[in-house]
Amino acid sequence: MLKLIVCTAKNNLIGDKNPQGNGLLWHSKSELLHYKNLTLNNIVLFGKTTANVVPIELMKKTREVVILDRDTDINKILHHGISSNKDIFICGGLTIYEYFLKYFQIDEIIISRLKDHITVEKPITPLYFPDVLNYGYILKNRAEHDDFFVETYIKEDIHVKV
Ligand SMILES: NC(=O)c1ccc[n+]([C@@H]2O[C@H](COP(=O)([O-])OP(=O)(O)OC[C@H]3O[C@@H](n4cnc5c(N)ncnc54)[C@H](OP(=O)(O)O)[C@@H]3O)[C@@H](O)[C@H]2O)c1
Repeated sequence: MLKLIVCTAKNNLIGDKNPQGNGLLWHSKSELLHYKNLTLNNIVLFGKTTANVVPIELMKKTREVVILDRDTDINKILHHGISSNKDIFICGGLTIYEYFLKYFQIDEIIISRLKDHITVEKPITPLYFPDVLNYGYILKNRAEHDDFFVETYIKEDIHVKV
């Protein structure tokens, strides 16, 4: 399955155009664990800016990592996911999220929404995740965790019965 995973703060904030550290503007061990549990042993896709800040070498030990460039054959990756029985996770950043939302049908969009008690650093140039409802996705499930809620969205028309 093709999945998208993202963590958002208030107003869908996801990061800074010029990310520092690991790119995240907050700390939540449990949210990182949630991300790890879902992506483990699967295929993770990153844009170049995000790939510069996430611990890619560490990730490669437990996941198949693909750093996208404009010439990457996405269909080849999708076929590889099917033949290896692995999920493919679109892991950002914003440019990559927007690209897949626009051009691909995503089977599941998994959004962590941080609770208000999590401190969020103020970005210089904030980046905001788009509203997936505008891309034809609908909320399928909402689950509460300690630091965040997890919302799962699916494409509206794929579950319409004829
Ligand atoms: N909160 C979260 O869950 C989360 C998750 C991931 C990332 N982030 C944040 O997102 C921010 C980075 O996002 P970003 O949009 O600046 O960068 P990005 O999406 O990580 O990378 C963008 C780059 O990827 C390359 N690229 C590959 N395929 C492309 C395509 N089909 N179309 C366009 N470009 C393509 C381009 O590099 P070239 O220009 O060299 O071709 C482009 O500049 C950081 O702040 C990061 O921390 C947040």
